[in-house]
Amino acid sequence: MSAGRDMAKPRVNRFWSTVGAFVVIYALVKWGIPAASREVTGLPFPLPVPGALVFIYMTLAVVALAILVTFSDEYLNEFVGPVKKFLRGDYGRVPRMVVLVAMPLLVGWQVYAVTVPDVAVPASLRIQHPSSNFPKSFETLKNPLASPSDADVQAFIEQAKANTVAFIPQVAADVKRWREANAGKHALDFIPTSPMKKFVAALKSDSVDQSTAKAALLEKTLFEGRALYAMNCRACHGDSTAGDGPMADGFKLRPINFTDNGTIETIVEGYTFWRVTNGGPGLPTEATPWDSAMPEWKLSLTEEERWKIIFAEYDLAQKTPRIPESH
Ligand code: HEC
Repeated sequence: MSAGRDMAKPRVNRFWSTVGAFVVIYALVKWGIPAASREVTGLPFPLPVPGALVFIYMTLAVVALAILVTFSDEYLNEFVGPVKKFLRGDYGRVPRMVVLVAMPLLVGWQVYAVTVPDVAVPASLRIQHPSSNFPKSFETLKNPLASPSDADVQAFIEQAKANTVAFIPQVAADVKRWREANAGKHALDFIPTSPMKKFVAALKSDSVDQSTAKAALLEKTLFEGRALYAMNCRACHGDSTAGDGPMADGFKLRPINFTDNGTIETIVEGYTFWRVTNGGPGLPTEATPWDSAMPEWKLSLTEEERWKIIFAEYDLAQKTPRIPESH
């Protein structure tokens, strides 16, 4: 600001240069700093200056400009001169009228906007795993499909030998179509994973043992669980259960990332079953605000289907459920 005496006089008058300086400072704080932050941090988004900080910076700018303007009587007159002229109507009566009417309205509107009560969501905490209405009887519940009994495995072997293994109706049509196109193959070849291949090979050579059969049965359960998951849950919870399904962005309360160690791994299977069964509507009040969009699956999936999905869900997330403590 040491511009001065020897510089040619005709320049922007002090009123407009002061207003201009204020606008430039505001633009720097509001857009300049966020733009620079992108360069500095390399993040794909700018880091905005918090509103409270913008307010402090602009207050300081006003103080600094006021000191500058009142530096001498000459400066002050240069600044106030155009304002007085304007109020006298030297620049026309219509602009003066517009400003004199607009100013009080603007101030009034601001005061109104600040004082009117708003309807924003209260800033209260939400309990992620509410358990106040979680029935004790669910606590020690085990996924019945995760550990099939010897009789179940034996029945599976018999069906596989006769090639009459039944699939859930949701995938049966696909399996049927595949079998028509792949005559001579075993129905279980539809699931081309290694435990299944091993089992089908053992069937052919008539050397089936209990553990190979059990692994294959679990593989079939997983396959059906994954199919049911894709049909019912994927839209919100995502392919890998990471909470990034195509619909997830639409919810204020997003489905959480199950591949994270702090989520479904920290709860017992019975709790997961209870959550899936009762969905958002089953949650107690401490789970609000932001009501969960999770559907109440007992209305549209059988108990067996729910367990199948949970089996597949833990597998997709590559997690194991928490083991219930013994008291
Ligand atoms: C309409 C979207 C939507 C669909 C479809 C949906 N969910 Fe959810 N789910 C959510 C949301 C949102 C949450 C997270 C909010 C919460 O904690 O309740 C959630 C929470 C959960 C939780 C609780 C996690 C925890 O940490 O307590 C489980 C388990 C779950 N979902 C499983 C499923 C399964 C299994 C299916 C399919 C049968 C499914 N979800 C389908 C939206 C959905």
